[in-house]
Amino acid sequence: MLQVYDLKKSYGKTVALDGVSLNVSQGEILVIMGPSGCGKSTLIRCINRLTEPDSGEVFFEERSITDMAHKELLEFRRRVGFVFQHFNLVKRLSVKDNVMLGLVLGGLPKAEAEVAALEALEKVGLGGYGNSRPEELSGGQQQRVGIARALALEPEIVLLDEPTASLDPILVGEVLDVMEDLVRSRKATMVIVTHEVAFAMKVADRIILMDHGKIVEEGIPAEVFAEPKSDIGQKYKRLLVA
Ligand SMILES: Nc1ncnc2c1ncn2[C@@H]1O[C@H](COP(=O)(O)OP(=O)(O)O)[C@@H](O)[C@H]1O
Ligand SMILES: [Mg+2]
Repeated sequence: MLQVYDLKKSYGKTVALDGVSLNVSQGEILVIMGPSGCGKSTLIRCINRLTEPDSGEVFFEERSITDMAHKELLEFRRRVGFVFQHFNLVKRLSVKDNVMLGLVLGGLPKAEAEVAALEALEKVGLGGYGNSRPEELSGGQQQRVGIARALALEPEIVLLDEPTASLDPILVGEVLDVMEDLVRSRKATMVIVTHEVAFAMKVADRIILMDHGKIVEEGIPAEVFAEPKSDIGQKYKRLLVA
């Protein structure tokens, strides 16, 4: 469904992506892990060109995303849900309006967008919070709004960039639970960047480990850390044994 071919991206002298290639199949749950600064966000953002790669290509259902003109790109983005580490909710809008926004911008009549938004909020356990402001919610609830906003688009693929990384440990669990429900529903292909090893081992079909802008390990959860060749793979293995 999604093919990433030899992506490269540098910021000045910093090499963020140093030739990354990967395939994601329809319905697959792919988890990307790796130390801070290894290029995970750059990779996931290059998939829908929130970040423009220097070279390489991304194909979605055999169409080149990297070659798309702006209008086509916007249409493609409507099929992709993106969940950010820092939620990126619009403060002055209600929770419901935040979730509706993408749908309304996509041309859906307001009444229909509202129904879809309330349904999505229900799915993440926030049925009663439509009229609240984001700031009235806890971090975990805000991120669940972020997830609802992505789901409301009924995306074919959902990209999640460290969705629990800026939450207190106590709030992480509720967001992981919602994500686990999503995974179980198998409605969308998912690419999840996370540091939550236990979660990754539980939900991933495949785990990719990155270091210094490259993929250094790749495999099913049961095998990826069994005999790691890379330094970082060995570090993760020790984490798991500990
Ligand atoms: N907009 C940017 N400007 C300059 N450097 C950046 C920018 N975004 C990322 N980088 C650098 O690129 C590298 C990879 O970053 P990133 O993809 O955010 O890593 P990760 O998500 O794995 O922590 C890091 O060294 C980071 O400092
Ligand atoms: Mg990141």
